[in-house]
Amino acid sequence: MTALGRPRLHLRATTSTNDRARELAQAGAPHGTLVTASEQSAGRGRQGRTWSAPAGQALLMSVVLHSPPLLLPLAAGVAVAEAAGPDARVKWPNDVLIDDRKVAGILAESRPPARWVVLGIGLNVAVRLDDLPPELHTTAGTLGLQPADVEPTLARVLAGVERVLVLEPAALLDAYRARDALRGREITWSGGRGRAAGIDDAGRLVVELPGGGRSVLAAGEVHLTG
Ligand code: BTN
Repeated sequence: MTALGRPRLHLRATTSTNDRARELAQAGAPHGTLVTASEQSAGRGRQGRTWSAPAGQALLMSVVLHSPPLLLPLAAGVAVAEAAGPDARVKWPNDVLIDDRKVAGILAESRPPARWVVLGIGLNVAVRLDDLPPELHTTAGTLGLQPADVEPTLARVLAGVERVLVLEPAALLDAYRARDALRGREITWSGGRGRAAGIDDAGRLVVELPGGGRSVLAAGEVHLTG
């Protein structure tokens, strides 16, 4: 049995599981403390986005991790992709895609100098795409499972996160590279465009530029083109 997930607070509805988990972390909650919800009224994503999920159709979870590894954002992407199945890929830094559609998003939040991180994961386990806001219809994906599969999926995700937390960096980078959704593909980002050339050993995205040369992205958001 995994050590992550205890104690657990499950809420039928809340603003954001990351909010609840952060409150618990600030109050001294132990490593592995888990908050789940069936529904969020203010789910949030990276880059100031919102995160939408129809009630009861998605895994919405936040786990408190003490002393997380440097590569936690990538590690979490690998863990969630592995739980999502053999066709799941990771789009740097940690979106999880199936057939280029986003099935999961990950938001790691901390409050320096605190030594904890709240790792928030939204995974569209049983989401009917028609139930999502229209603007997500062309980009979102789903595992296409049933609501009853949310709980077993949670167990797989927790076991996966626990496993990647103790991976040596080289093994983690190998696992990430095996599921890299971007390598060899044309991408754009706020600073330009180019062809993704994998991640370096610090977990940064390497991009080959159209005019020759390379850029290395340490943070931010990239988009697949075409
Ligand atoms: C992203 O892709 O932008 C990250 C999305 C993270 C969504 C999850 S759902 C559970 C947890 N609570 C939140 O408010 N956000 C994360």
